[in-house]
Amino acid sequence: MQRDEGRTAPRIAVYPGSFDPVTNGHLDIVWRAAALFDEVRVAVLDNTGKTPLLPVEERVQLIEESVHAWPRVRVDHFSGLLVEYLSLCGASIVVRGVRDASDLSAEWQMAALNRDLRQSTETVFLPSHLEFSHVSSSRVREIAALGGDVSRFVPEHVAARLRIK
Ligand code: PNS
Repeated sequence: MQRDEGRTAPRIAVYPGSFDPVTNGHLDIVWRAAALFDEVRVAVLDNTGKTPLLPVEERVQLIEESVHAWPRVRVDHFSGLLVEYLSLCGASIVVRGVRDASDLSAEWQMAALNRDLRQSTETVFLPSHLEFSHVSSSRVREIAALGGDVSRFVPEHVAARLRIK
């Protein structure tokens, strides 16, 4: 087994996702990951096969506005395979938040696939806080589309953006 005594390279964790839109649950994961790693790179998937509510530039901007004062956090976007983006960043660690057992089952499979595609990939699961365990971007989109109040689930500037949408 390799030890990391004398390690000098910064430990970069990539937190990938659709973030359509970013929620308070996502931001809690970013905050907690930033306490564990030298740098957290929030990587927004630019998936041309899916039509998101918000274009990728806007999703990136909303996250940047949320984390601008947080040390060790950067926001970026990527398309294609996550493992290729990891290679580009010189990163091996993927962070994912897990809300419940069904999340874990899907995340477990994704972690195994990513490790299969690139052996150095390690996925770190962070259990979401109970207060966020029922919050998802898709439910936030649905509530907002039906005129409901999403201000408890997302930062105020995100809620304002959704109201305009
Ligand atoms: O927020 P999401 O939609 O649950 O995030 C899913 C995401 C972006 C992490 C995942 O779909 C992904 O990594 N997509 C990139 C394509 C890829 O690498 N697929 C193979 C691994 S499953």
